[in-house]
Amino acid sequence: MSNRVYIFDTTLRDGEQVPGCQLNTIEKIEVAKQLEKLGVDIIEAGFPISSPGDFNSVVEVSKAVSNPVICALTRAVKKDIEVAADALKFAKRGRIHTGIGTSPYHIYQKLNSNPDEIIERAIAAVTYARKFVDDVEFYAEDAGRSDNEYLARVIEAVIGAGATVVNIPDTTGYCLPLEYGAKIAYLKNNVPNIDKAIISTHCHNDLGMATANTLAGVVNGARQVEVTLNGLGERAGNTALEEVVMAMKSHKDLNYTTGIDAKQIIKTSKLVSTLMRMPVQANKAIVGRNAFAHSSGIHQDGVLKNRETYEIIDPADVGVKESSIVLTARSGRAALKHRLDVLGYKLSPEKLDHVYKNFLVLADAKKDISDEDLDVLVGHEKKEERL
Ligand code: KIV
Ligand code: ZN
Repeated sequence: MSNRVYIFDTTLRDGEQVPGCQLNTIEKIEVAKQLEKLGVDIIEAGFPISSPGDFNSVVEVSKAVSNPVICALTRAVKKDIEVAADALKFAKRGRIHTGIGTSPYHIYQKLNSNPDEIIERAIAAVTYARKFVDDVEFYAEDAGRSDNEYLARVIEAVIGAGATVVNIPDTTGYCLPLEYGAKIAYLKNNVPNIDKAIISTHCHNDLGMATANTLAGVVNGARQVEVTLNGLGERAGNTALEEVVMAMKSHKDLNYTTGIDAKQIIKTSKLVSTLMRMPVQANKAIVGRNAFAHSSGIHQDGVLKNRETYEIIDPADVGVKESSIVLTARSGRAALKHRLDVLGYKLSPEKLDHVYKNFLVLADAKKDISDEDLDVLVGHEKKEERL
């Protein structure tokens, strides 16, 4: 089995469903072009039946980018599929992503149906979509809470109908990593035709497990991961692209490869955050403001001696110029001296001691100490010397 993992980015579809994050067509094109530079394999550009604006965005994104596959979402409904196929008419390589719910909540309550009828509807949708495109992905909505035996029947049926990718969404973010991994392993071992399709993960983050579940899926045989920049998405969000990619890159022993140019991660994260008006939390893994900032004296001393003491990723690898040493009341002499050296101040050990004492008093009052504060502290020191 190949270790190449395909990156399916759904920032423009599942990410964009977040209230307040809607993008117009021009903005979607800008993000899609940056996603192409980032090296994603598939861009889910929208849900064309949902609105004329979304239809138009799928059309324009299809024209604007050429390397990634362009994907359009549908329900297992003929009209949705026809409209998606129409929206994809300019895509070099287009994919229809169709599907239906397979958990008891969906089968009996949402769809007022029964398990056999759901399988028939799934087969009909995939068969119909294959009339328009060669690449059809099927999603089993709420697969995370679906019975594994039943899910295996559904997946076998849709692969038989021509699905090229089978998506196993943990729609409600309910699964634990062992459980989600076991679900993928169950399908790998119990669906006779499974090797004719690529298994895809699509994990939501309601319990903070999205990245862990996605990786558990990959370890058990999934070779496509559905992700968004900054983990944007409904409720607690989707799996964050940057986390999965950097987890795979950092754990070289796992031997997974992707087509992502990680140096584009920060730029893409910032673009998405700005256009979607969704700030990134400061302590967000990989892309948060503090992801490469060190503020405690013990850590600063370690990092200044050898960056890898407290950093598992070289910030330059994701497009951050350098890690930062933040001067606070928890900083030690080493960090203060380092910053003063950078600013061009060469102080004797005694002077440094004196400045450090004043620095701590100021830092207790002010939280963060800026370069201008240091100028004042050192200037004050010189003045004291003159008196
Ligand atoms: O979370 C989900 O189940 C989805 C599907 C529509 C793929 O977003
Ligand atoms: Zn989703």
